[in-house]
Amino acid sequence: MKVYLVTGAAGFIGANFTKYMLKKYKDIKIIILDKLTYAGNLGTIKEELEDKRVEFVKGDIKNRELVENIFYRYDVNYLVNFAAESHVDRSIENPQVFLETNILGTQNLLDVAKSAWMLGTDDKGYPIYKEGVKYLQVSTDEVYGSLSKDYEEAIDLILEDDEVKKVVKDRVSLKTYGDKFFTEETPLDPRSPYSSSKASADMIVMAYAETYNMPVNITRCSNNYGPYHFPEKLIPLIIKNILEGEKLPVYGDGKNVRDWLYVEDHAKAIDIVINDGRLGEVYNVGGFNEEQNINIVKLTIDTIAKIMKEEPAYQKVLKTDLDNINYDLITFVKDRLGHDMRYAIDPTKIATELGWYPETNFEDGIEKTIRWYLDNQDWVEAIVSGDYQEYYKEMYEK
Ligand SMILES: NC(=O)c1ccc[n+]([C@@H]2O[C@H](COP(=O)([O-])OP(=O)(O)OC[C@H]3O[C@@H](n4cnc5c(N)ncnc54)[C@H](O)[C@@H]3O)[C@@H](O)[C@H]2O)c1
Repeated sequence: MKVYLVTGAAGFIGANFTKYMLKKYKDIKIIILDKLTYAGNLGTIKEELEDKRVEFVKGDIKNRELVENIFYRYDVNYLVNFAAESHVDRSIENPQVFLETNILGTQNLLDVAKSAWMLGTDDKGYPIYKEGVKYLQVSTDEVYGSLSKDYEEAIDLILEDDEVKKVVKDRVSLKTYGDKFFTEETPLDPRSPYSSSKASADMIVMAYAETYNMPVNITRCSNNYGPYHFPEKLIPLIIKNILEGEKLPVYGDGKNVRDWLYVEDHAKAIDIVINDGRLGEVYNVGGFNEEQNINIVKLTIDTIAKIMKEEPAYQKVLKTDLDNINYDLITFVKDRLGHDMRYAIDPTKIATELGWYPETNFEDGIEKTIRWYLDNQDWVEAIVSGDYQEYYKEMYEK
């Protein structure tokens, strides 16, 4: 039986990964280590906590004694590190906690895992590790910095490269706003306190791989969306505000471009990299699904309005009149400091080496996500605490 230590699994992606793994594999054990910050919620993993295969430990990834204790009690095969401070806006307000959790926390996990997995040293002094162990760092495309937006409106890029065609399966073209994409070879060039802390974490992971031969992988993914996403991030925030008839704050002119990845496709990618990723390698995980923020907001408005009209039973979750659900809700707010213009991931490596590709197209994924929020308003109500209300006022209403 494989034992996974999954940090940050009371948050968005870690929880979706845990759900995916428990469904896929019968015979596994998952230890969740989570500090339960504002972003971590036990309600997100309520069913999993009742599963005998799951153990929950509340605590900080920086706490050496606690992490050592987990390794002492369990024969951990895989450590998957999702735990992080993850919101760029918060990192601009208070960078220090990002450095503490994202950098020092990562180093602590690596160091404890290294000691626990080490069997001895070879004749050159490099550690030798147990078979079947791996540390996987969940990173972000933001470590690569920002790409230029070469086209005001998206163009259709006709695919000629056979490798790229494999990635996107039956698509013959893809929509893009620029000529360049992030590959694993793109130099790190982070811009925000958040992305700088994630890039630093990536570098310390690679340092452990080089210096101590540690079995590691790093995955760098684009913007995830899907169920259980905390409503401070764009898509869940927009859904929540539309249902309440509140203004939809959009930074600057709304023309910044992000690449969107359905969270379950990301969970699949991590599982594949744990099993088959070549040790010491970085894998980019992205959707080839670029869109401008403003178009995401409009699509979300249109989709909610359509669902409400076609399936009136859903109108019970509305706290506003159906007629108010239109583009007049959009309000442009002062741009984020140092707002990166465009992110676009090239996932050719993971697709061609490991056979992964983004299965969910954006139109299906966004509708699935919206329906999940409509069906799970209790979850939203429960996690939107008093603290969050104050934070929201501070960020967007001032
Ligand atoms: N959400 C995205 O679109 C996205 C994109 C690229 C990369 N990532 C990366 O994926 C990972 C997960 O992101 P997410 O969106 O699920 O984040 P999230 O903010 O929803 O969840 C983070 C989780 O980590 C926990 N946590 C925070 N500090 C901790 C600490 N010191 N010790 C233990 N637990 C702690 C929180 O309680 C929470 O449960 C992060 O590393 C993030 O950088 C996310």
